[in-house]
Amino acid sequence: MGKTLHIKNAAQVVTMAGHTEKPARQKAMQELNIIEHGSVLIQDGRILAVGTLEELTQEYGNVLAEAEVLDATGKTVTPGLIDPHTHLVHAGTRENEYAMRLKGKSYMEIMNAGGGIHATTRATREADFDQLYEESKQRLDTFFQYGVTTVEAKSGYGLSLEHELKQLEVAAKLNKDHAMDIVSTFMGAHAVPVDERDNPEPFVSRVIEEMIPEVARRKLADFNDVFCERGVFTPDQSRRILEAGKEYGLTPKIHADEIEPYGGAELAAEVGAISADHLLKASDEGIRKMAANDVMGVLLPGTAFFLMAEYANARKMIDGGVPVALSTDANPGSSPTLSLQFIMNLGCLKMGMTPEEVLTATTINAAHAIGRADTIGSLEVGKQADIAIFDVPNYLMLSYNYGMNHVDGVVKGGELVVG
Ligand code: NIG
Ligand code: FE
Repeated sequence: MGKTLHIKNAAQVVTMAGHTEKPARQKAMQELNIIEHGSVLIQDGRILAVGTLEELTQEYGNVLAEAEVLDATGKTVTPGLIDPHTHLVHAGTRENEYAMRLKGKSYMEIMNAGGGIHATTRATREADFDQLYEESKQRLDTFFQYGVTTVEAKSGYGLSLEHELKQLEVAAKLNKDHAMDIVSTFMGAHAVPVDERDNPEPFVSRVIEEMIPEVARRKLADFNDVFCERGVFTPDQSRRILEAGKEYGLTPKIHADEIEPYGGAELAAEVGAISADHLLKASDEGIRKMAANDVMGVLLPGTAFFLMAEYANARKMIDGGVPVALSTDANPGSSPTLSLQFIMNLGCLKMGMTPEEVLTATTINAAHAIGRADTIGSLEVGKQADIAIFDVPNYLMLSYNYGMNHVDGVVKGGELVVG
């Protein structure tokens, strides 16, 4: 018998069971499947059983007798939170631009003047592998402290084959070395390099002909993402880049309709993207098409908060049948936070989501957004034992207190990594 761990007597075990096959939509986003005074039994890094102590004792009495015990009295146990959209690997910070925006400059003005994504691209190109590794590792440690057990990580601050590969290699090495699971996305089409902005087509060709094939050959990413926005990549360029990725087995994702309505949600549906992210300005037609084509809406209210912009219309999406996930968008320009708990607060208070919906959106639906729902996102038999333990008596408290960290412990693959 391998290593066993018994998380015992939680005030609530929020299992999120029942949504592994398909993302939760509409009413299903309210179904958390809670066990009061519940236990979780873990063996060899996987979930062996979830239920009340009586139920588990009947079936697994012998295993329980031998198991290490983690007492969760008065606490709330959930699946480890999943952050399905981060720009984890980058160098430096942009607090100077924050100060400029507070004086009235816009995000796009700063980017068009050579700052924004370009500023972080310069810093990331200058940074060597070890520096990027160290900075990103510290972010992963913080994600753990805040209850996150899997993150998606995008490249996109290299904008050349050499530096995009460097970012992705850092993510790959951290995925090996660090207990956190990292799911990688290639985002060479995050911006057109400053010196090529007047003539972006050669860069688009390099993304398609040079970068995508090499990233795929080295198996450095699962997904291919594009910043489809006026002044960045047009819908036509975005479509070509996403279609090219598909030929190499990279599933499309898209930064869509963040600053202006630009057909990004529609494009996501047309190319069969697994998710369309941001969607602050998504059109009704785009939302309808996403619902009809099973495209997850990954909403990033931290970005609207930090850019002082209008929030995505989560209610219209959820009520219209779009499955929704939430994420930090962790990055130095538009959302410098690593707290998915704060994003849950924003989901409720600024986008009209319910506490049940935000929990669904940061667990099982977030797992679907990165193609991992078969192994994570819920506390169900056979899944990886990725678990967050919060020092609150019920799940409602998670999106009630704001700007606080309720994490008491985190179990990753059956091992206690926080607490
Ligand atoms: O998701 N919108 C484009 N990309 C990031 C921001 C990147 C940056 O400002 O450095 C985002 O918001
Ligand atoms: Fe982003």
